[in-house]
Amino acid sequence: MVREVVGLDVSSSMIAQAKTRDLGPNVTLVVSDFLAFGPETQFDKIYSIRSIEYFPRKEEFVAKAQGLLTHGGRLLVITKSTPSLWVGRTRLKHLVRRAQRRGDEASGGAGDSSLWQVDDHQFRQRRIGAFRLGRIMRAAGFKNIRYVPIIVRLPLFKGGEDEYPVIPGRLEGALLPTARAFARLSWKLPQPLRWAPYLMSNTYLIAADRP
Ligand SMILES: C[S@@+](CC[C@H](N)C(=O)[O-])C[C@H]1O[C@@H](n2cnc3c(N)ncnc32)[C@H](O)[C@@H]1O
Repeated sequence: MVREVVGLDVSSSMIAQAKTRDLGPNVTLVVSDFLAFGPETQFDKIYSIRSIEYFPRKEEFVAKAQGLLTHGGRLLVITKSTPSLWVGRTRLKHLVRRAQRRGDEASGGAGDSSLWQVDDHQFRQRRIGAFRLGRIMRAAGFKNIRYVPIIVRLPLFKGGEDEYPVIPGRLEGALLPTARAFARLSWKLPQPLRWAPYLMSNTYLIAADRP
């Protein structure tokens, strides 16, 4: 039974969006930079969903999370994969936009898909691979580190976001179960090949425990 949940984001408009949902009485929403967050209590779980890629120094994020966790607490991070076949299409779009805007000094980073702009904050996406992040967590003292790649398939669906437009929408339904079966098989690959599913993954989950 979850007693209390704190939802945190440095962006007030993200928190305002969250406030429009019916979150229940045990949820508190906080506008704060995670690195500056100073609650009075510690947490037994910290979930970080698609945020760590915007922290310039991942070590700082991991150390902060460790300090906020109780002994026996768990950190769960979901973040974009790298290196990944899914990155190519985004990069390509970014390059095309830059070429189109060349000479227009005012364009700045507006077409840069690695930038995330909310309120007055602008974040640059700096992805970190699963095994490197795992090493940072281990060095910080975390134990029992496990990884799961998420959305493991070739990015070829026309209807998908930032995928190569090869497979038409009407075939997606028929092909998705095969892609899922393939993903499940790939997770069972022996140790020397365990990086392979990450190359084909959009995102991954990494979980680690504070002893
Ligand atoms: C891609 S969005 C993900 C938002 C949300 N977690 C979700 O899954 O829908 C990245 C979020 O990270 C937040 N963020 C980036 N750096 C942060 C920091 N230092 N402290 C708190 N939030 C941060 C941004 O404000 C942005 O809302």
